[in-house]
Amino acid sequence: MTTATPTPPSDPRAAAYAASVRLSVAPMMDWTDVHCRQFHRLLAPGARLYTEMVHARAVIHGDRSRLLALTPEQAPLALQLGGSEPADLAEATRIAAAHGFDEVNLNCGCPSDRVQAGRFGACLMREPALVADCVAAMAAASDVPVTVKCRLGVDEDDDYDVFAAFVDGAVAAGASMIVVHARNAWLQGLSPKENRDVPPLRYDWAHRLKRERPGLPVVVNGGIASLDATLAHLRHVDGVMLGRAAYHDPYLLHAIDATLRGAPLRPRGELLRALRPYAEASMAEGAALKHIVRHVLGLFHGQPGGRAFRQVLSEGAHRPGADWGLVEEALAVTEVRARDRSAA
Ligand SMILES: Cc1cc2nc3c(=O)[nH]c(=O)nc-3n(C[C@H](O)[C@H](O)[C@H](O)COP(=O)(O)O)c2cc1C
Repeated sequence: MTTATPTPPSDPRAAAYAASVRLSVAPMMDWTDVHCRQFHRLLAPGARLYTEMVHARAVIHGDRSRLLALTPEQAPLALQLGGSEPADLAEATRIAAAHGFDEVNLNCGCPSDRVQAGRFGACLMREPALVADCVAAMAAASDVPVTVKCRLGVDEDDDYDVFAAFVDGAVAAGASMIVVHARNAWLQGLSPKENRDVPPLRYDWAHRLKRERPGLPVVVNGGIASLDATLAHLRHVDGVMLGRAAYHDPYLLHAIDATLRGAPLRPRGELLRALRPYAEASMAEGAALKHIVRHVLGLFHGQPGGRAFRQVLSEGAHRPGADWGLVEEALAVTEVRARDRSAA
């Protein structure tokens, strides 16, 4: 598959960013916070990570130390912005670039009522000229790449050419990559959760987009939940973005990243223990263990002892004074259960 960057950039950070197009973890509100991303980075050194969506005005006026929290290891890291006011998006992009993000992504896919009322997210798919203005303002604001994450359309939209024209408008305005959540968003009658499952997936639109625009980096997203599916998509597009599967089954994320990098698989316990220095440093600064370990509960998904692992952590992490010892306890219990199971 051709990518947009045939010769790798000589700057190592730019080279890592370019390579990370192949695999990314989706922006997910309440899930892909700074702690989650630290864990995902350990699992997937080659993947591009995305923040939760942050509104441009929150970036400008809000508590940046919280909203834009990151660590240097989390690069390549994109900030996802919500909004539809070009001047605000430009200012937020400038702030994000100065903060150390490698990419700024515009959300054109969120269907929630709150987001619709604010005239951003998925309803922007019906306003291609406004999206182009937003992207142009963002791209002019800094050197950081500006990308767009969109759906195929909204409600009953069913015209590939309209979708392609939306993409072309964003690209002409300066978007350097398109992430396609390959289904429509239904703005009436479905919750955001249903909007991630009910509208049918049409991967062929994303594949066709790439086929017809070979120079445009295209990433496909939606319902991709295995290594085989990832590899199959990579024959058609530049990258695959995993959301729920990566979150609920973090070892799958590890396995896909390792396969793409040709690296050996590391055991689950070793990966988790690599989080300890970060977890302890965060707790020393006031974070609670429960806010960190909630993201690791799925690490033994589908494995003997996986339920015990989840139970020890979710019950114990809420107790006052819970520390890393609880994680060691969960690992030990999991090992014993797994051994009992294989001996039975
Ligand atoms: C809990 C949750 C929160 C989400 N928040 C965002 C968000 O902030 N921005 C966004 O573009 N998409 C958001 N999404 C959608 C995902 O990025 C992704 O497009 C969707 O889940 C489909 O991919 P998947 O089937 O791999 O999960 C969210 C999804 C979930 C499950």
